[in-house]
Amino acid sequence: MNASVASMIDENSSVEQRVAALLREMTLDEKIGQMSQLNASENYVPQHLGDELRAGHVGSVLNAVEVGTVNELQRIAVEESRLGIPLLVGRDVIHGFQTIMPIPLGQAATWNPDVVRQGARVSAHEAATTGVNWTFAPMIDISRDARWGRIAESLGEDVYLTNKLAVAMVEGFQGDDLSANGSIASCAKHFAAYGAAESGRDYATTNVSENELRNVYLRPFKAAVEAGVTTLMTSFSDIDGVPASGNEFLLRDVLRDEWNFDGFVVSDWDSIRHLQVHGLTANEKGSALQAAVAGVDMEMASSTYRDNLAGLVESGQLDVRIVDDAVANILRTKFRLGLFENPYTALDQNNIVGNAHALQTAKKAALQSVVMLKNENGALPLVTEELSTVAVIGPLADAPHEQLGTWIFDGSAEQSVTPMHAIHSLVGHDIDVRYVRAMENSRGRANEAFDEAVAVAQDSDVAILFLGEESILSGEAHSRADINLPGDQAELVRRIRATGKPVIAVILAGRPLTLTNIVDEVDAILFAWHPGTMGGPAIADLLFGVVSPSGKLPATFPRMVGQIPIYYNQKNTGKPPTPETVVHIDDIDTHAPQTSLGMTAFHLDAGYTPLFPFGFGLSYAKFHYENLRVAEQETQLGETITINAELSNRGSVVGEEVAQLYVRDLVGNVTRPVRELKGFQRLRLEPGETVTVEFVLHTDELAFYGRNMQLMTEPGDFHVWIGGSSDTHLRTEFRIVDNH
Ligand code: GLC
Repeated sequence: MNASVASMIDENSSVEQRVAALLREMTLDEKIGQMSQLNASENYVPQHLGDELRAGHVGSVLNAVEVGTVNELQRIAVEESRLGIPLLVGRDVIHGFQTIMPIPLGQAATWNPDVVRQGARVSAHEAATTGVNWTFAPMIDISRDARWGRIAESLGEDVYLTNKLAVAMVEGFQGDDLSANGSIASCAKHFAAYGAAESGRDYATTNVSENELRNVYLRPFKAAVEAGVTTLMTSFSDIDGVPASGNEFLLRDVLRDEWNFDGFVVSDWDSIRHLQVHGLTANEKGSALQAAVAGVDMEMASSTYRDNLAGLVESGQLDVRIVDDAVANILRTKFRLGLFENPYTALDQNNIVGNAHALQTAKKAALQSVVMLKNENGALPLVTEELSTVAVIGPLADAPHEQLGTWIFDGSAEQSVTPMHAIHSLVGHDIDVRYVRAMENSRGRANEAFDEAVAVAQDSDVAILFLGEESILSGEAHSRADINLPGDQAELVRRIRATGKPVIAVILAGRPLTLTNIVDEVDAILFAWHPGTMGGPAIADLLFGVVSPSGKLPATFPRMVGQIPIYYNQKNTGKPPTPETVVHIDDIDTHAPQTSLGMTAFHLDAGYTPLFPFGFGLSYAKFHYENLRVAEQETQLGETITINAELSNRGSVVGEEVAQLYVRDLVGNVTRPVRELKGFQRLRLEPGETVTVEFVLHTDELAFYGRNMQLMTEPGDFHVWIGGSSDTHLRTEFRIVDNH
């Protein structure tokens, strides 16, 4: 610790006392410095940055990841500035640092908080070896629109699943002791409702009612705050006319007054400066004022705070207490991270990065993330003894960078093990594995290589097609209006199908795709998202039955992009569709009289059901649920309901199943979803094994925000399901009574 700081702060005093003591010593200029985060992506310290650090004008840097440079940045801040306040060093460690886990949407498909927590822990350890002490993750925006590029970065469409996995990521990044080596501060983003961008176009307007905001988009952030997340990041979004970085309702009324959050809020990149672009303010001075008053504590990248806050305070337009509160929030985090005692990073930690534990963690996550969407005609698993030649075809079979997915700034494609290599390693000594890329990338057009692919497939026992999207087709600012397989991939599928050979599709993508135009052309589909560094070995193990697929969809797969938004926990409407009420566009008499009687909420050309529903995923085992029952038909408000079912594996191989609990509140003072996930358990069953799946639900878990925006559970009747997908039909009911 810097001598001057040490002289002021008794290390035995509380964090709050230390914050207060330091704050009392700071000039206004130094306070505003703490509220400023600068980009520092060079592998050296530029003169101007060094000067700013010495002047105490910088509280944090982002994108510095070379440990020597980071230590020099810290040294200047700690030893050459007046107060010696160490830096927060931020980086987007979203789903891995050098060793890359599946994209978060793929991790969500594991429905396994332990796997997600372990992945975040490995990521934190690897990042911390470079001096990074803060990640801009987890991204917990509820995403119901597969056109949106950042659905790849999200944990899917459901609040309950996102809550559980968001908490797991916060715990993984921060560990049990935030000041311990290998723990880094986390950042719940993007606050809030970023995933509700109109038409799935990134950065677009969101119009979300307060009731929907509270019941859906805010809940994961509340869960993250309750789990001790250190920081939040504001979204770029215009939320009902007030962009998040200027939104006092979000940042003070909800985050501070209701949730008692005591960490700090960072803007997104330039998002304070964007307030003027949105048209909320007339100039950068106005943007700085609006953001500071609203409750943004630190400004990322832009300099509206550095340029304007001192003048605003000195002119009396901004109360200095707002600045003091923001700086206190930032200093609190630095003390909690132990940065004053340990600002520097040891240089000899290379044994941590990319080690066997990291790779095992990445492989386990990839294995459990893959969702088997189809498996007919006994196509999978492939049985080595029955095969002599296997055709591996497609642009994503041997694409080490693409399989890593979006947001992999520090990922090492050299470390990737591709499906092509993994299949060779697993079975190449027994089987002739023949590879044809056929397309340079996923957007490729039909070409002569298609002929070669067809010929190789013709001469093989089975064709495995590696299709999908390369990583750059999802992620920030990379939304798509058409979510079919890009390029001529569907044509390639048709050409290979025409050989009459068994066809297996392995799809790597950053979003749910509309697979309607190929689903009937293949015998099996493994949807692998972007599976990360160890995606290859995981996919090979699944293809050849070393492990059974166990992933479940964290987001709905539409039949057509025009169905979006489509998600399982929708409202019933006053005219809910049923199979009987659907009319297909081809079946309408051209002279049919105009009528709406008996008509319901569906599309003439798509119906109302998805291609694959939330929670769906197949296994090589055969899971069966029966005997669903509740222990009490009536439960008193404030008590618990126990729900059981028998789950059996009627198959011939061991498998893991994610048993899911759904509930419907039949009547509410606001309309309630037709069903909501309220529990899940990942269970491993041997062939022939039967287990009792039990969920114990407290009535508080059925609470929702009503018309008065208060969180409450209402007495009344409920339906309850247990099954292996959100469209399970195994249902019973219970009643909540209030005899108080
Ligand atoms: C980006 C993203 C945000 C990220 C930040 C820093 O624009 O919106 O998620 O953490 O900038 O890279």
